Amino acid sequence: MASFANPFAGNVPRKMTREELIQAIRLNIAGELEAIYVYDAHVQATDDPVAKKVIADIRDEEKAHVGELMTLLRHLDPEEAEHFAEGEEEVREMLQELNFIGNSTEKNSESKPESTIGSLIGK
Ligand SMILES: [Fe+2]
Repeated sequence: MASFANPFAGNVPRKMTREELIQAIRLNIAGELEAIYVYDAHVQATDDPVAKKVIADIRDEEKAHVGELMTLLRHLDPEEAEHFAEGEEEVREMLQELNFIGNSTEKNSESKPESTIGSLIGK
């Protein structure tokens, strides 16, 4: 929780090293993800349409912050960016194997339908 009562809480004794900055950015990303989780829980927990709309908007801004921080992290740590890219590629390959295109819920409709038990009846 915030410690606003301490006027010196935000003071820093020195600048961060690059490695410390990278760690700080990872922590910032975790904070943004936690904020998304909490805001989303509050959206789900209320039926007040105005509160739902405002909190959902804030939640979505936090998602944009994750994107900004991930881009910054890739810039600061290109080696880590390669690991992210490897993971992304692995999932893309799995989606291709499963015949998904675009977003993960959209299957390629031009593909041949998978065989079903019914398709074997009469053969
Ligand atoms: Fe944020």
